[in-house]
Amino acid sequence: MSNVDLVQALDSVMKERFATRFYADRPVSHDTVRDILEAARHAPSGANIQPWQVHALAGAAKAEICRDILATHAAEAAQHVSEYTYYASSLPDRYQGRKQAFGQVFYGSLGIAQDDARGRAAQTARNYDFFGAPVGLIVTIDRRLEKGSWLDLGMFLQNVMLAAKVRGLDTCPQETLAKYHRVLRRHLPIAAEDVVVCGMALGVRDAAAAATRGVMERAPVEAFARFHGFETPSGA
Ligand SMILES: Cc1cc2nc3c(=O)[nH]c(=O)nc-3n(C[C@H](O)[C@H](O)[C@H](O)COP(=O)(O)O)c2cc1C
Repeated sequence: MSNVDLVQALDSVMKERFATRFYADRPVSHDTVRDILEAARHAPSGANIQPWQVHALAGAAKAEICRDILATHAAEAAQHVSEYTYYASSLPDRYQGRKQAFGQVFYGSLGIAQDDARGRAAQTARNYDFFGAPVGLIVTIDRRLEKGSWLDLGMFLQNVMLAAKVRGLDTCPQETLAKYHRVLRRHLPIAAEDVVVCGMALGVRDAAAAATRGVMERAPVEAFARFHGFETPSGA
């Protein structure tokens, strides 16, 4: 592959990945999941600490855990909270605006009205069987590590998503699964010092359902980057 082709291929993998919430009923093999993790483990990390820990779930193991989480979610959702805070309690305007836009696009694309609490709850519950994906990942990190190691973990997770994509598989990272760490601990050997950071659905996407997804726009480069010391850009 020429360098130009490689650039286009990598850019398009990054641009075409999206959070996939509809999956085809097609299994993903142990070897494929292992290959993805084998590629992803090359992620950089400060001082090469490699803080990622993954439980990969499929088949009966995944089904049993999902049953337990779904039952727990239906019976006592309010009693389960994540061990870390994902969103700031008060988002600065710029981010709050984007979060609101996300909600409109997300629920709009699913035909769920903003005031339809029941419809929104049903959509949230779909997280707890990994949206029907054949594989679910549970990702943890040692709680004694600092923010820097969480950066490393994010790079690893992006590697997982891109490695899946080039293999014809799609993913959805899922912070909401962190709420059910106590349920997950009933089934998985998660050490006391580990925090459940997120889950991730992994599988072949359902093309028809995925085609109706809401496209989440990104702010342009000019909205987040400033350039210093460069010559005048071509075309300016
Ligand atoms: C760390 C992380 C956690 C996420 N958690 C959830 C989740 O719990 N449930 C969900 O449906 N989507 C979740 N998402 C997906 C985001 O909503 C999605 O990435 C964002 O809206 C941008 O859309 P796109 O990835 O489809 O382009 C998560 C994404 C990230 C990066």
